Amino acid sequence: MNMSYKTTHPVLSPASLGPLALRNRAVVAPMSRVSAGAEGIPTEQMAAYYARFAEGGFAAVITEGVFTDSLFSRSYQHQPGLVTDEQQAGWALAADRVHAAGSAFIAQLMHGGALSQCLTETVAPSAVHPKGAKMADYGGSGPYPLPREITSSDIGAVIDGFVAAARRARAAGFDGIEVHGANGYLFDQFHTPYTNLRTDRYGGTAADRVRLTAETLSAIRAAVPSDFVVGVRLSQTKVNDFEHRWTGRGEAAVYFAAVAEAGADYLHIASEGRDWRQTAMIEPDLSVTALARAVTGLPVLANGGMHDPARAAEILGDGHADLVALASGALANPDWPQRLRDGRPIEKFDHRILHPSASLDNAERVLAGVAG
Ligand SMILES: Cc1cc2nc3c(=O)[nH]c(=O)nc-3n(C[C@H](O)[C@H](O)[C@H](O)COP(=O)(O)O)c2cc1C
Repeated sequence: MNMSYKTTHPVLSPASLGPLALRNRAVVAPMSRVSAGAEGIPTEQMAAYYARFAEGGFAAVITEGVFTDSLFSRSYQHQPGLVTDEQQAGWALAADRVHAAGSAFIAQLMHGGALSQCLTETVAPSAVHPKGAKMADYGGSGPYPLPREITSSDIGAVIDGFVAAARRARAAGFDGIEVHGANGYLFDQFHTPYTNLRTDRYGGTAADRVRLTAETLSAIRAAVPSDFVVGVRLSQTKVNDFEHRWTGRGEAAVYFAAVAEAGADYLHIASEGRDWRQTAMIEPDLSVTALARAVTGLPVLANGGMHDPARAAEILGDGHADLVALASGALANPDWPQRLRDGRPIEKFDHRILHPSASLDNAERVLAGVAG
């Protein structure tokens, strides 16, 4: 810990995310916690979990990936949805709790595509067998099934699902949504050449491969008022491929321009499975996040190891990003912004919190000191 950051750390200055004024630049990154009821209904335990970050001083909390339709979007057992009235009501409780503690609340909308841990029939841009195996911490086991190539009518249903879920998010009291275009899930499967072999308008060049993401953002943007934040998450790496990289600034710039043109209010650049440094630079002197800022002029969230106060200060101070999003570091330090403000030490993340399950029950057992 470096005491010199006390009260002056750049993360503690106010910021904005599109129309939203934020008390600081610290955001909780989306984290799947496989803890909703079997019907995808968010629980009181989840509301308390999300409120804890708001009470700890984070300016905005992004939820775990939420499923958007009852067809093929679902990614995990015990994943929350935004498809039914009951799911919406569960989220409304969480939104009240987060707002009461002074934070903005953003729902991450997610379609698992070929990487569903729970569906036996999956859809993807092309019938390409996914790399890797299902993830035990999220209830998966064994190999992924071979996905079916998504049809144009399935694509229409995907967009409709995201629009309906965004409307429900607004009705539940969220301040905005984030389209999960990262980490190897459906939209990222479209972005990625080896999982997208299509020859229609959704496959081919980078502009074609990002088309579905952009169309989905535009459709959402048209369906919600302008004071409702519409963000998007993008990444090079994937939960089942930590090595994938965009071919260079050209490919990245096409994605960034397309989502901005579609009406995104912010870009969130994820670093799945890798420290920020390892995925940060698209050219020796140009970070992916700085390129996103330059191409779009929009606020950019950097992610990956941002709980290190020196790292976060460098990212913000050197113009790499406007905000930082913490995942594992926020689990270890739900009061990270207050710790920075008070000059208190940052706790190390304990991996047992997510093993053998990423659920809240498992985390509570570990934190209570009863895990084996
Ligand atoms: C338990 C857990 C669940 C996650 N679930 C999601 C998710 O639902 N959506 C998403 O975009 N990223 C998800 N991620 C990735 C994180 O948002 C983040 O990109 C990654 O953990 C790197 O950030 P960190 O170094 O701050 O942990 C998850 C990460 C963790 C640890």
